Amino acid sequence: MNHSLDYSPQELSDILQKTSDLVLEQYAKVDQQDGFHHFPQAEVASWFDEPLPRASTNALALLDLVKQRVLDTATGNLGPNMYAYVMAGGNQISTVADFLCSTINQNATKWHLGAAMTEIEKRVVKWTAEMIGYTPDAGGVMVSGGSAATLTGLTVARNIFWRKHNINKNGLFGMKPFTVYCSTETHSSTDKSVSLLGIGTNQLRRVATDTDFKIDLDKLQLQIEQDIAAGFTPFCIVGNAGTVNTGAIDDLTALSQIAKQHGMWLHVDGAYGGLVSSLPELKTKYAGMELADSIALDFHKWLYQPFEIGCTLVHNWDVLRESYFKQADYLDTSLEVKTDRLEFNEHYFQLSRNAKAFKVWMSLKAYGFTQIQAMMQKDLDLTRYLEKQVRTSKDFELKSRSDLAIACFRYIGTGLSSEQIIRVNQELIPALETDGRVFITGTKLNGEFVLRACIINHRKSEASIDYLLDVVRDVAQKLSSKLSSN
Ligand SMILES: Cc1ncc(COP(=O)(O)O)c(C=O)c1O
Repeated sequence: MNHSLDYSPQELSDILQKTSDLVLEQYAKVDQQDGFHHFPQAEVASWFDEPLPRASTNALALLDLVKQRVLDTATGNLGPNMYAYVMAGGNQISTVADFLCSTINQNATKWHLGAAMTEIEKRVVKWTAEMIGYTPDAGGVMVSGGSAATLTGLTVARNIFWRKHNINKNGLFGMKPFTVYCSTETHSSTDKSVSLLGIGTNQLRRVATDTDFKIDLDKLQLQIEQDIAAGFTPFCIVGNAGTVNTGAIDDLTALSQIAKQHGMWLHVDGAYGGLVSSLPELKTKYAGMELADSIALDFHKWLYQPFEIGCTLVHNWDVLRESYFKQADYLDTSLEVKTDRLEFNEHYFQLSRNAKAFKVWMSLKAYGFTQIQAMMQKDLDLTRYLEKQVRTSKDFELKSRSDLAIACFRYIGTGLSSEQIIRVNQELIPALETDGRVFITGTKLNGEFVLRACIINHRKSEASIDYLLDVVRDVAQKLSSKLSSN
C-alpha cells in the first residue's frame, strides 16, 4: 500500500501530458463538434455498470477509457452546433483556472483558509457591479448558477421582510400569506425558490405579459391592489432582465417604482440577460436594474464560464450577513488576527465552498472585458442574422422578437396543414437528437410549440447559423414527406 494517494513526479507528469493532449484534441476539432451523440440510455448506463472498484486502475489506461466513454461522447456544448437551453461554450483560460483551483484546493469560506481567493471573490463582486452599473458598495456571493442566485436573493428578501414584521418573534400566526409577483414568462427557479422558502406557490402571482412577453404593469398593479384589499401582504416582485423563452426585459424602472410604492423588495432575474446590459447599445433597455434590491446573474451564460457559476448581488454586505451569519464556536473569528477580513461563510448558506470566482477573475484578466463584450455583441449580431434568414426563407416562420440572443421559430415547409406543421415541429426535437448534427430544443409561446435557438457561444459564426437551418430543413423535409405519405 502506498503511503499516500500521490503519484510519483514522473507518473504525474505523464498523466498531465496525456491530459493536455486530450484537452488539445477537444479544441482541435471543436468547429466540427456534433451537437449531440445519440446513444440509447441503456447503452450509456452499461458503460458504467460495474461494482465498486476496489483495486486501482492505471491512470493512463483510465484516461483512455475517459476519452472513449466520456470525452468522445460528450454533448457538443463547446462547439458551434449547440443551440439548446443556454450553453455558453466555456473558455480555455477558465478550464486552466478550474484545474489550478482544484490543485491548491482552497476553501473559500473563511478568509484564512483562502486569503487570495476571498479577496479575488470580493474583487469579482465589485467588477460585476461595475459591469452592470450596480452600486459599487454591492455585496455579493458566487453561487452555483441562476437558480441558486434567485434562491439567495429571495432568501434575503424574505428574511428582511420577517425582520420588518417581527416574524422571528411572533411567528406567522394570525398573518395572511405574503405574496410574490412575477410574469408568466418568469423562469421556474422562482417557483422553486418560493416553494423552498415556505412561502408556497399559491402565493406566487404570475401576471400576464404584453405581446412582447414583458410583464403587463397595469395587471400587476391591479393584482397587488386586489391582494391588499383581500388582506394579503405583497412583499416581493421578481422582474426579468431577459426571460428564458424570448429574452424579454421587463420595465425594471416601473417595477422598482411599484415595489417602492408598496414597500416591496425587487429581485431581478438577470441569469440569462443581466450581463449583456454592459453593452452600451442595450443599456437603456435595462434602465432600472440598478434599483433592484437583489440581482441574480449567471456567469456560465454570458460570461462564457464553464459550469457552474452564478452570482447574487445585493445593495450591501450587511443584508447577506443578516441572513446567513450563525455563531458557531468552531468558526469563531474572535481569536484571529483582527483585520477587515470578510468571511464568506457569514454571507452565504454554504460553509465549504470552492473558489468559483477564480476562473472569472482569470478570464477577465486574460481576455479583458472589452473582448468579452465583443463576443456578446457577436452573439447578438448572429441572432439578428438567424432572424433575418428565417424571415426571408419560404419554409420557416419567426415566432419571437428579441433584443437578446434567442430566436424562436417553426418549420412550415410548403403545402403543410397547420396540424401537420405542429406535428413536424414536435417530431423535429427527437429526430434532430437522433440525427445529432445540431442540438436544439423547443418551448411554448402563447401555448404554441416552437423551436428555440439560443446563441450564446463565442465560437459561432454566420456559417454555423446557415448550417443550423440547413440541418433543421433537411430533417424536417424527411419528416414532412413521411407525414404526407401516411
Ligand atoms: C432567466 C433564467 N433564470 C434562471 C435560470 C436558471 O439558471 P441555472 O440553470 O444556472 O440554475 C435560467 C437558465 O437558463 C434562465 O434563463
